[in-house]
Amino acid sequence: MHIFVTGGAGFIGSQFIRDWAERFPEGHITNFDKLTYAGNLANLTAVEAHANYRFIRGDICDRNALLEAIPANVDAIVHFAAESDVDRSIAGAAEFVRTNVVGTQVLLDVARERGAKRFLHISTDEVGGTMGLGWFFEDSKLDPRSPYAASKTAAEQLVRAVGATFGMDYVITRTSNNYGPYQFPEKVLPLAICNALSGQPIPVYGDGLQIRDWVHVADNSKALQLALLQGKAGETYHIGGGTPQTNMEVLRTLLSMLYCHESLLKRVTDRLGHDRRYAVSYAKIERELGWHPEISFPTGLRSTIHWYRQNQEWVKAVRNGEYLNYYKAQYGLNLPAGQVV
Ligand SMILES: NC(=O)c1ccc[n+]([C@@H]2O[C@H](COP(=O)([O-])OP(=O)(O)OC[C@H]3O[C@@H](n4cnc5c(N)ncnc54)[C@H](O)[C@@H]3O)[C@@H](O)[C@H]2O)c1
Repeated sequence: MHIFVTGGAGFIGSQFIRDWAERFPEGHITNFDKLTYAGNLANLTAVEAHANYRFIRGDICDRNALLEAIPANVDAIVHFAAESDVDRSIAGAAEFVRTNVVGTQVLLDVARERGAKRFLHISTDEVGGTMGLGWFFEDSKLDPRSPYAASKTAAEQLVRAVGATFGMDYVITRTSNNYGPYQFPEKVLPLAICNALSGQPIPVYGDGLQIRDWVHVADNSKALQLALLQGKAGETYHIGGGTPQTNMEVLRTLLSMLYCHESLLKRVTDRLGHDRRYAVSYAKIERELGWHPEISFPTGLRSTIHWYRQNQEWVKAVRNGEYLNYYKAQYGLNLPAGQVV
Protein backbone atom coordinates (compact mmCIF):
# COMPACT_ATOMS: atom_id res chain seq x y z
CA MET A 1 0.00 0.00 0.00
CA HIS A 2 1.31 3.46 -0.90
CA ILE A 3 0.08 6.39 1.18
CA PHE A 4 0.74 10.02 0.36
CA VAL A 5 0.74 12.11 3.54
CA THR A 6 0.58 15.91 3.60
CA GLY A 7 1.84 17.82 6.63
CA GLY A 8 3.65 14.76 7.97
CA ALA A 9 6.40 16.84 9.61
CA GLY A 10 3.89 18.36 12.04
CA PHE A 11 2.72 17.08 15.38
CA ILE A 12 -0.07 14.63 14.48
CA GLY A 13 1.16 13.77 10.98
CA SER A 14 4.57 12.69 12.28
CA GLN A 15 2.97 10.46 14.94
CA PHE A 16 0.82 8.88 12.24
CA ILE A 17 3.83 8.27 9.97
CA ARG A 18 5.94 6.77 12.77
CA ASP A 19 3.08 4.44 13.74
CA TRP A 20 2.21 3.48 10.18
CA ALA A 21 5.84 2.73 9.26
CA GLU A 22 6.17 0.47 12.28
CA ARG A 23 2.92 -1.32 11.56
CA PHE A 24 3.42 -1.72 7.81
CA PRO A 25 7.17 -1.92 7.20
CA GLU A 26 6.55 -3.07 3.61
CA GLY A 27 4.24 -0.14 2.85
CA HIS A 28 5.34 3.01 1.01
CA ILE A 29 4.97 6.43 2.57
CA THR A 30 5.51 9.74 0.81
CA ASN A 31 5.54 12.70 3.18
CA PHE A 32 4.83 15.99 1.40
CA ASP A 33 5.36 19.00 3.65
CA LYS A 34 6.14 22.65 3.09
CA LEU A 35 8.13 22.86 6.34
CA THR A 36 6.54 25.94 7.79
CA TYR A 37 7.55 26.95 11.34
CA ALA A 38 5.38 24.00 12.51
CA GLY A 39 7.05 21.35 10.37
CA ASN A 40 10.05 19.72 12.00
CA LEU A 41 11.95 16.86 10.40
CA ALA A 42 13.43 16.02 13.80
CA ASN A 43 10.00 14.50 14.52
CA LEU A 44 10.74 11.85 11.91
CA THR A 45 14.23 10.61 12.70
CA ALA A 46 12.69 7.23 13.61
CA VAL A 47 11.60 6.65 10.00
CA GLU A 48 14.26 8.53 8.03
CA ALA A 49 16.23 5.40 7.23
CA HIS A 50 13.12 3.40 6.35
CA ALA A 51 13.64 2.12 2.78
CA ASN A 52 10.07 2.88 1.70
CA TYR A 53 9.79 6.32 3.26
CA ARG A 54 10.53 9.46 1.31
CA PHE A 55 10.19 13.12 2.15
CA ILE A 56 9.36 15.78 -0.43
CA ARG A 57 9.36 19.42 0.48
CA GLY A 58 6.42 21.07 -1.23
CA ASP A 59 3.36 23.26 -0.91
CA ILE A 60 -0.13 21.77 -1.29
CA CYS A 61 -1.13 24.92 -3.18
CA ASP A 62 1.41 24.03 -5.88
CA ARG A 63 -0.40 21.88 -8.42
CA ASN A 64 2.69 20.99 -10.44
CA ALA A 65 4.63 19.92 -7.38
CA LEU A 66 1.73 17.68 -6.34
CA LEU A 67 1.38 16.22 -9.84
CA GLU A 68 5.03 15.30 -9.74
CA ALA A 69 4.93 13.93 -6.20
CA ILE A 70 1.73 11.85 -6.22
CA PRO A 71 2.12 8.55 -8.02
CA ALA A 72 -0.69 7.31 -10.31
CA ASN A 73 -3.25 5.14 -8.51
CA VAL A 74 -1.83 5.97 -5.10
CA ASP A 75 -3.77 4.00 -2.51
CA ALA A 76 -4.58 6.88 -0.21
CA ILE A 77 -4.00 10.54 0.48
CA VAL A 78 -3.87 11.38 4.20
CA HIS A 79 -4.31 15.13 4.48
CA PHE A 80 -2.94 16.75 7.65
CA ALA A 81 -1.29 19.84 6.14
CA ALA A 82 -2.82 23.00 7.53
CA GLU A 83 -2.18 26.20 9.34
CA SER A 84 -3.38 25.01 12.74
CA ASP A 85 -3.04 27.75 15.35
CA VAL A 86 -6.20 29.70 16.24
CA ASP A 87 -4.31 32.72 17.61
CA ARG A 88 -2.31 33.03 14.42
CA SER A 89 -5.56 32.89 12.41
CA ILE A 90 -6.90 35.80 14.44
CA ALA A 91 -3.71 37.76 13.78
CA GLY A 92 -4.05 37.10 10.03
CA ALA A 93 -6.47 34.82 8.19
CA ALA A 94 -4.97 34.99 4.69
CA GLU A 95 -2.49 32.13 5.10
CA PHE A 96 -5.27 30.00 6.64
CA VAL A 97 -7.52 30.48 3.63
CA ARG A 98 -4.61 29.88 1.28
CA THR A 99 -3.36 26.65 2.85
CA ASN A 100 -6.47 25.18 4.44
CA VAL A 101 -9.00 26.05 1.74
CA VAL A 102 -7.14 26.62 -1.54
CA GLY A 103 -4.51 24.01 -0.67
CA THR A 104 -7.19 21.41 0.03
CA GLN A 105 -8.93 22.19 -3.24
CA VAL A 106 -5.70 21.87 -5.25
CA LEU A 107 -4.88 18.62 -3.47
CA LEU A 108 -8.36 17.24 -4.18
CA ASP A 109 -8.02 18.10 -7.88
CA VAL A 110 -4.68 16.35 -8.17
CA ALA A 111 -5.84 13.39 -6.05
CA ARG A 112 -8.67 12.85 -8.51
CA GLU A 113 -6.42 13.19 -11.54
CA ARG A 114 -4.04 10.68 -10.00
CA GLY A 115 -6.86 8.23 -9.28
CA ALA A 116 -6.27 8.16 -5.51
CA LYS A 117 -8.35 5.33 -4.10
CA ARG A 118 -9.18 7.07 -0.81
CA PHE A 119 -8.86 10.59 0.63
CA LEU A 120 -8.62 10.79 4.42
CA HIS A 121 -9.24 14.36 5.51
CA ILE A 122 -8.20 15.48 8.99
CA SER A 123 -10.56 18.06 10.45
CA THR A 124 -11.28 19.46 13.88
CA ASP A 125 -13.98 19.64 16.55
CA GLU A 126 -13.72 23.44 16.22
CA VAL A 127 -15.94 23.36 13.11
CA GLY A 128 -18.88 22.82 15.46
CA GLY A 129 -18.27 26.07 17.30
CA THR A 130 -18.98 26.70 20.94
CA MET A 131 -21.48 24.41 22.66
CA GLY A 132 -23.73 25.23 25.58
CA LEU A 133 -24.74 21.82 26.86
CA GLY A 134 -24.77 18.51 25.06
CA TRP A 135 -22.46 16.89 22.55
CA PHE A 136 -21.21 17.64 19.08
CA PHE A 137 -22.20 14.76 16.80
CA GLU A 138 -21.16 14.07 13.22
CA ASP A 139 -24.44 15.41 11.86
CA SER A 140 -24.67 18.42 14.19
CA LYS A 141 -24.80 21.90 12.71
CA LEU A 142 -21.46 23.43 11.70
CA ASP A 143 -20.88 26.80 13.31
CA PRO A 144 -17.21 27.83 13.01
CA ARG A 145 -16.33 30.98 14.92
CA SER A 146 -12.62 31.61 14.35
CA PRO A 147 -10.84 32.14 11.02
CA TYR A 148 -9.05 28.82 11.63
CA ALA A 149 -12.33 26.96 12.21
CA ALA A 150 -13.95 28.68 9.22
CA SER A 151 -11.11 27.60 6.93
CA LYS A 152 -11.28 24.02 8.23
CA THR A 153 -15.06 23.98 7.69
CA ALA A 154 -14.62 25.15 4.12
CA ALA A 155 -12.00 22.45 3.56
CA GLU A 156 -14.33 19.69 4.82
CA GLN A 157 -17.13 20.94 2.63
CA LEU A 158 -14.86 20.88 -0.41
CA VAL A 159 -14.01 17.26 0.34
CA ARG A 160 -17.72 16.37 0.61
CA ALA A 161 -18.45 18.27 -2.59
CA VAL A 162 -15.82 16.32 -4.52
CA GLY A 163 -17.25 13.10 -3.10
CA ALA A 164 -20.79 14.00 -4.13
CA THR A 165 -19.88 15.45 -7.53
CA PHE A 166 -17.19 13.08 -8.75
CA GLY A 167 -17.79 10.03 -6.58
CA MET A 168 -14.43 10.30 -4.87
CA ASP A 169 -13.96 7.93 -1.93
CA TYR A 170 -13.29 9.99 1.18
CA VAL A 171 -13.45 9.78 4.96
CA ILE A 172 -13.36 12.81 7.27
CA THR A 173 -12.22 12.74 10.89
CA ARG A 174 -12.75 15.50 13.42
CA THR A 175 -10.63 15.33 16.49
CA SER A 176 -10.57 17.20 19.76
CA ASN A 177 -7.42 18.77 21.28
CA ASN A 178 -4.50 16.42 20.78
CA TYR A 179 -1.61 16.28 23.21
CA GLY A 180 1.55 14.20 23.44
CA PRO A 181 5.20 14.27 22.36
CA TYR A 182 6.59 16.48 19.57
CA GLN A 183 3.89 19.16 19.82
CA PHE A 184 5.13 22.64 18.99
CA PRO A 185 5.17 24.66 22.22
CA GLU A 186 2.84 27.41 21.06
CA LYS A 187 -0.13 25.17 21.93
CA VAL A 188 -1.37 25.33 25.50
CA LEU A 189 -0.13 22.03 26.97
CA PRO A 190 3.43 21.89 25.62
CA LEU A 191 3.75 25.63 26.31
CA ALA A 192 2.67 25.07 29.91
CA ILE A 193 4.97 22.06 30.34
CA CYS A 194 7.99 23.84 28.86
CA ASN A 195 7.36 26.99 30.86
CA ALA A 196 6.80 25.09 34.10
CA LEU A 197 9.97 23.05 33.57
CA SER A 198 11.96 26.26 33.18
CA GLY A 199 10.13 28.15 35.95
CA GLN A 200 8.50 30.64 33.57
CA PRO A 201 4.96 31.96 33.94
CA ILE A 202 2.16 30.05 32.22
CA PRO A 203 -0.37 32.26 30.42
CA VAL A 204 -4.05 31.59 31.14
CA TYR A 205 -6.61 33.12 28.83
CA GLY A 206 -9.36 35.06 30.64
CA ASP A 207 -10.95 33.14 33.50
CA GLY A 208 -9.50 29.81 32.29
CA LEU A 209 -12.93 28.19 32.41
CA GLN A 210 -13.09 27.32 28.71
CA ILE A 211 -13.87 23.61 28.35
CA ARG A 212 -11.85 21.39 26.02
CA ASP A 213 -11.65 17.67 25.43
CA TRP A 214 -8.21 16.04 25.24
CA VAL A 215 -7.16 12.99 23.27
CA HIS A 216 -3.65 11.56 23.27
CA VAL A 217 -2.04 11.78 19.84
CA ALA A 218 -1.21 8.04 19.90
CA ASP A 219 -4.90 7.23 20.43
CA ASN A 220 -5.80 9.64 17.63
CA SER A 221 -3.28 7.95 15.35
CA LYS A 222 -4.92 4.56 15.97
CA ALA A 223 -8.32 6.03 15.17
CA LEU A 224 -6.96 7.56 11.96
CA GLN A 225 -5.50 4.22 10.89
CA LEU A 226 -8.88 2.58 11.46
CA ALA A 227 -10.71 5.32 9.59
CA LEU A 228 -8.32 4.94 6.67
CA LEU A 229 -8.47 1.15 6.52
CA GLN A 230 -12.05 0.45 7.59
CA GLY A 231 -13.96 3.72 7.56
CA LYS A 232 -17.06 3.79 5.38
CA ALA A 233 -16.73 5.94 2.27
CA GLY A 234 -18.37 9.33 2.64
CA GLU A 235 -18.54 9.16 6.44
CA THR A 236 -17.33 11.53 9.11
CA TYR A 237 -15.99 10.22 12.41
CA HIS A 238 -15.37 12.12 15.62
CA ILE A 239 -12.30 11.25 17.67
CA GLY A 240 -12.38 12.41 21.26
CA GLY A 241 -10.84 11.62 24.60
CA GLY A 242 -14.04 11.67 26.64
CA THR A 243 -12.37 14.03 29.13
CA PRO A 244 -13.92 17.49 28.80
CA GLN A 245 -12.44 19.79 31.45
CA THR A 246 -11.66 23.45 31.93
CA ASN A 247 -8.28 24.82 30.92
CA MET A 248 -7.74 25.77 34.56
CA GLU A 249 -8.36 22.17 35.69
CA VAL A 250 -5.87 20.92 33.12
CA LEU A 251 -3.21 23.41 34.18
CA ARG A 252 -3.74 22.69 37.88
CA THR A 253 -3.33 18.95 37.26
CA LEU A 254 -0.18 19.65 35.28
CA LEU A 255 1.28 21.85 38.02
CA SER A 256 0.53 19.29 40.70
CA MET A 257 2.29 16.59 38.66
CA LEU A 258 5.33 18.85 38.40
CA TYR A 259 5.19 19.90 42.08
CA CYS A 260 4.95 23.52 40.91
CA HIS A 261 3.08 26.27 42.69
CA GLU A 262 -0.07 27.76 41.16
CA SER A 263 1.53 31.21 41.32
CA LEU A 264 3.12 30.28 37.96
CA LEU A 265 -0.30 30.76 36.35
CA LYS A 266 -0.62 34.24 34.88
CA ARG A 267 -3.96 35.56 33.69
CA VAL A 268 -3.75 37.25 30.29
CA THR A 269 -6.41 38.99 28.17
CA ASP A 270 -8.81 36.44 26.76
CA ARG A 271 -8.57 35.38 23.11
CA LEU A 272 -11.00 37.30 20.90
CA GLY A 273 -14.22 35.34 20.38
CA HIS A 274 -12.87 32.52 22.55
CA ASP A 275 -15.17 29.50 22.22
CA ARG A 276 -16.42 28.45 25.64
CA ARG A 277 -16.94 24.75 25.26
CA TYR A 278 -16.19 21.98 22.77
CA ALA A 279 -17.50 18.49 23.39
CA VAL A 280 -17.25 15.86 20.65
CA SER A 281 -19.03 12.58 21.00
CA TYR A 282 -16.95 9.63 19.76
CA ALA A 283 -19.88 7.21 20.04
CA LYS A 284 -20.06 6.66 16.28
CA ILE A 285 -16.47 5.53 15.74
CA GLU A 286 -16.76 3.34 18.84
CA ARG A 287 -19.98 1.75 17.59
CA GLU A 288 -18.94 1.33 13.96
CA LEU A 289 -15.18 0.78 14.08
CA GLY A 290 -14.66 -0.33 17.67
CA TRP A 291 -12.31 2.53 18.62
CA HIS A 292 -12.17 4.25 21.97
CA PRO A 293 -9.36 6.13 23.69
CA GLU A 294 -7.02 3.84 25.63
CA ILE A 295 -4.79 6.41 27.31
CA SER A 296 -6.40 8.15 30.28
CA PHE A 297 -5.68 11.86 30.60
CA PRO A 298 -3.55 11.60 33.78
CA THR A 299 -1.48 8.75 32.29
CA GLY A 300 -1.04 10.56 28.97
CA LEU A 301 -0.17 13.82 30.68
CA ARG A 302 2.46 12.15 32.88
CA SER A 303 4.10 10.48 29.88
CA THR A 304 3.97 13.75 27.91
CA ILE A 305 5.68 15.62 30.75
CA HIS A 306 8.27 12.84 30.88
CA TRP A 307 8.87 13.14 27.13
CA TYR A 308 9.44 16.91 27.31
CA ARG A 309 11.81 16.41 30.26
CA GLN A 310 13.77 13.78 28.37
CA ASN A 311 13.88 15.70 25.11
CA GLN A 312 15.27 19.04 26.16
CA GLU A 313 17.45 19.17 23.04
CA TRP A 314 14.34 19.04 20.86
CA VAL A 315 12.68 21.72 22.99
CA LYS A 316 15.79 23.89 22.92
CA ALA A 317 16.10 23.63 19.14
CA VAL A 318 12.44 24.50 18.67
CA ARG A 319 12.54 27.36 21.14
CA ASN A 320 15.62 29.03 19.75
CA GLY A 321 14.76 28.27 16.13
CA GLU A 322 17.83 26.07 15.52
CA TYR A 323 15.83 23.75 13.33
CA LEU A 324 15.10 26.70 11.07
CA ASN A 325 18.85 27.06 10.51
CA TYR A 326 18.84 23.48 9.34
CA TYR A 327 16.17 24.32 6.75
CA LYS A 328 18.18 27.30 5.62
CA ALA A 329 21.24 25.15 5.06
CA GLN A 330 19.34 22.22 3.54
CA TYR A 331 16.75 23.98 1.38
CA GLY A 332 17.84 27.61 1.29
CA LEU A 333 14.66 28.50 3.19
CA ASN A 334 14.48 31.66 5.24
CA LEU A 335 11.61 30.77 7.53
CA PRO A 336 10.30 33.18 10.12
CA ALA A 337 10.87 31.73 13.58
CA GLY A 338 7.82 30.30 15.30
CA GLN A 339 6.45 32.09 18.29
CA VAL A 340 9.32 32.30 20.74
CA VAL A 341 8.11 30.86 24.00
N1 LIG B 1 -3.31 19.62 17.12
C1 LIG B 1 -4.59 19.47 17.42
O1 LIG B 1 -4.96 19.43 18.61
C2 LIG B 1 -5.63 19.30 16.33
C3 LIG B 1 -6.96 19.10 16.69
C4 LIG B 1 -7.90 18.92 15.68
C5 LIG B 1 -7.53 18.91 14.35
N2 LIG B 1 -6.22 19.12 14.02
C6 LIG B 1 -5.88 19.10 12.59
O2 LIG B 1 -4.92 18.08 12.40
C7 LIG B 1 -4.01 18.43 11.37
C8 LIG B 1 -2.59 18.35 11.89
O3 LIG B 1 -2.48 19.19 13.04
P1 LIG B 1 -1.08 19.39 13.77
O4 LIG B 1 -1.37 19.82 15.14
O5 LIG B 1 -0.21 18.21 13.51
O6 LIG B 1 -0.52 20.64 12.94
P2 LIG B 1 0.94 21.23 12.89
O7 LIG B 1 0.77 22.70 12.82
O8 LIG B 1 1.80 20.64 13.96
O9 LIG B 1 1.52 20.69 11.50
C9 LIG B 1 1.07 21.14 10.26
C10 LIG B 1 2.02 20.64 9.21
O10 LIG B 1 1.55 21.07 7.92
C11 LIG B 1 2.64 21.59 7.18
N3 LIG B 1 2.10 22.59 6.22
C12 LIG B 1 1.55 23.79 6.52
N4 LIG B 1 1.21 24.43 5.38
C13 LIG B 1 1.53 23.59 4.35
C14 LIG B 1 1.40 23.68 2.94
N5 LIG B 1 0.87 24.76 2.36
N6 LIG B 1 1.82 22.64 2.19
C15 LIG B 1 2.36 21.53 2.78
N7 LIG B 1 2.52 21.41 4.10
C16 LIG B 1 2.10 22.42 4.89
C17 LIG B 1 3.56 22.21 8.22
O11 LIG B 1 4.88 22.38 7.74
C18 LIG B 1 3.45 21.21 9.35
O12 LIG B 1 4.39 20.17 9.21
C19 LIG B 1 -4.41 19.83 10.90
O13 LIG B 1 -5.19 19.70 9.75
C20 LIG B 1 -5.24 20.37 12.07
O14 LIG B 1 -6.20 21.30 11.61
C21 LIG B 1 -5.27 19.32 14.98
